[in-house]
Amino acid sequence: MVTVFDHPLIKHKLSIMRDKNTSTKDFRENLNEIGSLMVYETTRDLPVKDVEIETPMTEMTGSTLAKDVVVVPILRAGLGMVQGIVDLIPNSKVAHVGLYRDEETLQPHTYFEKYPKNVSDAICIVVDPMLATGGSAVAAIDMVKKQGAKNIKLVCLVGVQEGIDNVEKHHPDVDIYLASLDEKLNDQGYIVPGLGDAGDRIFGTK
Ligand code: PRP
Ligand code: URA
Repeated sequence: MVTVFDHPLIKHKLSIMRDKNTSTKDFRENLNEIGSLMVYETTRDLPVKDVEIETPMTEMTGSTLAKDVVVVPILRAGLGMVQGIVDLIPNSKVAHVGLYRDEETLQPHTYFEKYPKNVSDAICIVVDPMLATGGSAVAAIDMVKKQGAKNIKLVCLVGVQEGIDNVEKHHPDVDIYLASLDEKLNDQGYIVPGLGDAGDRIFGTK
């Protein structure tokens, strides 16, 4: 399933991020804010279980999340969405998957991975602002599945159809969420209109 959010706040913030003159500070802030807005919707189907609570007035049965949530940023750029998500799910754990895309071949290369204990029973939310060829997302989901993860969502900001097709081909069980479905990839594998190199814009590198 692919969901492309059609929300005025997300569109407004994404337009700020796309502007090449937007500062590193504003880029980071808007990315985290969109991360919060998107995860609010992507977690709509999380299971809850009953919990007995005592209000100041009486006893009642309330709800608590039934499963652990593990946020899985694809380094580096995925880190830019973590705070916004963790702000909404404060008990979530954060795994790290380090991948970089070779600039010539566009193939992903793994350089780091670290997971919490409970991945196999948790809801795993893989996050990366950019879904271009989809190679990095496919590789990251492969890695999380090797840890036993069975319930995985992919949350990206900007994607193209090629990336969606690649993820759906390799991981048809993974729901994909996007803030925008953009037009195409250019000859260098960059998303057009896109927002440029997300990692460089988050961290101020070149
Ligand atoms: C970017 C982006 C994704 C990947 C998308 O990362 O953050 O991880 O490219 O491209 P793909 O869909 O074609 O795989 P990059 O490799 O530039 O690393 P960085 O986040 O460290 O800048
Ligand atoms: N990675 C990025 O950071 N931007 C793109 O447009 C494509 C891949």
